[in-house]
Amino acid sequence: MNTLKIGFIGAGNMARSLIGGLIASGLPANNIQASAPDREHLQALANDFSIRTTTDNQALLDRCDVIVLAVKPQVLKQICQALRPAQGSLYLSIVAGIPTSSIRHWLEQKAETGPLAIIRAMPNTPALLQTGASALYANPHASEAQRESAEAIMRAVGLALWVKDETQMDAVTALSGSGPAYHFLFMEAMISAARELGLNEANARLLTIQTAFGAAKMALEINENPATLRQNVTSPGGTTERAIQTFQEGGFEKLVTAALSAARDRARELAEELGQ
Ligand SMILES: NC(=O)c1ccc[n+]([C@@H]2O[C@H](COP(=O)([O-])OP(=O)(O)OC[C@H]3O[C@@H](n4cnc5c(N)ncnc54)[C@H](OP(=O)(O)O)[C@@H]3O)[C@@H](O)[C@H]2O)c1
Repeated sequence: MNTLKIGFIGAGNMARSLIGGLIASGLPANNIQASAPDREHLQALANDFSIRTTTDNQALLDRCDVIVLAVKPQVLKQICQALRPAQGSLYLSIVAGIPTSSIRHWLEQKAETGPLAIIRAMPNTPALLQTGASALYANPHASEAQRESAEAIMRAVGLALWVKDETQMDAVTALSGSGPAYHFLFMEAMISAARELGLNEANARLLTIQTAFGAAKMALEINENPATLRQNVTSPGGTTERAIQTFQEGGFEKLVTAALSAARDRARELAEELGQ
């Protein structure tokens, strides 16, 4: 991993987080490069991380073993179609929604190579604070070493795990991709309910956020499933039991299933639209 040359096409929020994470995990800065159209954005990245930058995507591709595609979904097709890919490189896309088959098809239009190794990762927003959750899918042309490199890159911004079937990326999008927003929504609702119960805004906000953080930390660090952790703090006849009963009578679990299914269906629709 420490000898790999990693090039980022796209120098925005996600590229910056991944570059910061990789350097913090010990990758030498001179193994990392980035390309984007805006020279000022590139200069800021070069100043912060001492990496090499260019406005020429092809020049970056020619110098790197792993090309991280970190641009918005709407511009990926045009960027891939303009590139002349080299055999043996790995293309790691963090672009939401676009299937590996589309990326391969676009890249191979100018390629005089065999099938290209494409790995797709779906990170989420907490990756910006190195606490992300990413799932990865590799097409059959990626080698074991390339899979290890992709996993190490995504681990620089948090948890990284694999799915075997690419269609599961739509479920991942619905779960961890969109998931931070569900937790924010729950926090908003708790803050607003606490205000109605008479707490001031600052206290309602801090108690809500710290409670969410503490619950997530317990779920991560105590070797019990969330159902057991919940039962452990729900005394018969107590306050928590009364609240949980109210959630369940309101159809909480069904609503969560319906919300995730709706997100999964929208991810499928977007993949079809953007992957054309
Ligand atoms: N942010 C998240 O939390 C998150 C979560 C999951 C997945 N993702 C995915 O990650 C990808 C990047 O997201 P982001 O938040 O980092 O976006 P972003 O901040 O908008 O960055 C996009 C970058 O792409 C560059 N770019 C545009 N056209 C280009 C071209 N022709 N050649 C090279 N670079 C070009 C932009 O260049 P300039 O700097 O010159 O404008 C910018 O640096 C997206 O596809 C998104 O779906 C993001």
